[in-house]
Amino acid sequence: MCGIVGILGREPVAGKLVDALKRLEYRGYDSAGIATLEAGKLTRLRAEGKLRNLEDRLAKEPLRGNTGIGHTRWATHGAPTENNAHPHMTGRVSVVHNGIIENFQELRTAIAETGTVLTTDTDTEVVAHLITHELDEGHDPVVAVLHTLKRLEGAFALAIIFRDHEDLMIAARQGSPLAVGFGDGEMYLGSDAIALAPFTDTITYLQDGDWAVMTRNGLAIRDREGNAVERPVQKSVASALMVDKGNHRHFMAKEIHEQPEVVSHTLAHYIDFTNTRLQLPDLPFDFTNLNRIVISACGTAYYAGLVAKYWFERYARLPVDIDVASEFRYREVPLEPGGLALFISQSGETADTLATLRYCREQDQHIASIVNVRESSIARDSDIVLPTLAGPEIGVASTKAFTCQLAVLACLAIAAGRARGHLSEQDETELVGALIGVPRHMSALLRDESGFEALSHTLSKAHDVLYLGRGVNFPIALEGALKLKEISYIHAEGYAAGELKHGPIALIDESVPVVVAAPKDALFEKTLSNLQEVAARGGQIIVLSDAGEAELGCEVMATIPMPHAHDFVNPLIYAIPMQLIAYYTAVFMGTDVDQPRNLAKSVTVE
Ligand code: M6R
Repeated sequence: MCGIVGILGREPVAGKLVDALKRLEYRGYDSAGIATLEAGKLTRLRAEGKLRNLEDRLAKEPLRGNTGIGHTRWATHGAPTENNAHPHMTGRVSVVHNGIIENFQELRTAIAETGTVLTTDTDTEVVAHLITHELDEGHDPVVAVLHTLKRLEGAFALAIIFRDHEDLMIAARQGSPLAVGFGDGEMYLGSDAIALAPFTDTITYLQDGDWAVMTRNGLAIRDREGNAVERPVQKSVASALMVDKGNHRHFMAKEIHEQPEVVSHTLAHYIDFTNTRLQLPDLPFDFTNLNRIVISACGTAYYAGLVAKYWFERYARLPVDIDVASEFRYREVPLEPGGLALFISQSGETADTLATLRYCREQDQHIASIVNVRESSIARDSDIVLPTLAGPEIGVASTKAFTCQLAVLACLAIAAGRARGHLSEQDETELVGALIGVPRHMSALLRDESGFEALSHTLSKAHDVLYLGRGVNFPIALEGALKLKEISYIHAEGYAAGELKHGPIALIDESVPVVVAAPKDALFEKTLSNLQEVAARGGQIIVLSDAGEAELGCEVMATIPMPHAHDFVNPLIYAIPMQLIAYYTAVFMGTDVDQPRNLAKSVTVE
């Protein structure tokens, strides 16, 4: 999950490559580099860390050349050093790569045996050497790449330029996404269409197994078997505007504050606001014929799915099997043909989720996906896409995509309940009405954040934080813990509140803050008992509730007053303070909120 770009231009391309990489930095930011071809010589510049380090270097040591490739890295093989940064080069070729060459050890050994010295710890370097070896044998670049591709195992996207061929770039896609852009006498390549948006909106997506020979006048695509193939050319809707932070200090803050608006947009796509009724697109499956749904996703998107499990089971009496995609894909889950498999992903490119989708496709499932990036691989591989209208999410910690996913899932659960006869028209109106009220509750919560700032001082001193919730709010506790871990690096765990006494309660003492989602719903009294168990052991309780302090019956360190909403929609509303707790703690601790260490926005490797 790195980002790659390539340009065959009519003028020096270094600046454009960096512009495109900026739009791909969400894919990784451990190091960056570009290589260009000028006067028959390949030259590269690389820098450890974020793209701005590369920009600083380029300002002092500009690269010229009208042909070039670029890379922003999320390290898999080899430490995130300058030496391991892409592009990788020999005298004859330069290569950028996203993905993993799984048989790289075996290839390294074979290359070393020919007397070639490998100078990096990466899997990518082998690609440059294998192609060079083929060129040295007298093959032309196309044959050299073809022979090399046949030796590579794994998932990858590659862009290759050649010292002796100014008007040539070869791209290959196996598992990792690649978009080709058409310009006026120029050609572009990128890990996604967003990277190319400033230059062109005319795009072709390579399909799995495709490799493309690009010149300034166009491209020729071949499939895995070597057959010439045509892929549709389409107009990309990716915006050329660089998304900015507005008045906010971080993208994450901006995205948290966008939630009332984007959740409202998303709901408007699935709800008739005037009549307080659902208006879903035609679904290619019938809820009444289903015995169960399988849901798979990763990280925050998985927690959205977990909330949906409670909804589908309660409101539609439809059992849900849910698993993180990295497990699901290898579990060999038996699936009845004709079932529904539902995938949730902000990026639509998460490798494990995509692999699970393909497994379910082989098992004859209807494939539905909830994605934020409509041109993504998951969207393109689905029978039906139920989009979230969150807009670009730049902060690595997912916020607005999550609540928009919940909004779509909530609508789908009501639809299932109606179709299966477990919800009446009146129930539909009640639940849809509750959803319509969500943006208003979110706005109210976002009006005064002073309490979160104060809380961050205490939380920043903690080594461990526990998050508790029950029922539909248990996944919100998990999500709260994930948010804190990701951006503040404080260890946090989410637990089902009732599970506390079966082990985790041993962790509690006066140094452990415990954040409890305790809405006044049917399980409130139960949660209250758990809260009292924590209080009795000196835990510092931070309670999120619409109940008054007097109703809690124990001493708490802090209360975050929550609006009183229908219990159906509480997960969407309780997500907001969870995000704010993490955000303010991270800001107080001075971490890199939008690009936390070791993470990347889109995880396109296993
Ligand atoms: O793009 P996806 O929604 O498929 O990504 C899934 C996870 O990688 C993602 O939710 C991750 O957990 C976020 N960093 C959470 O904030």
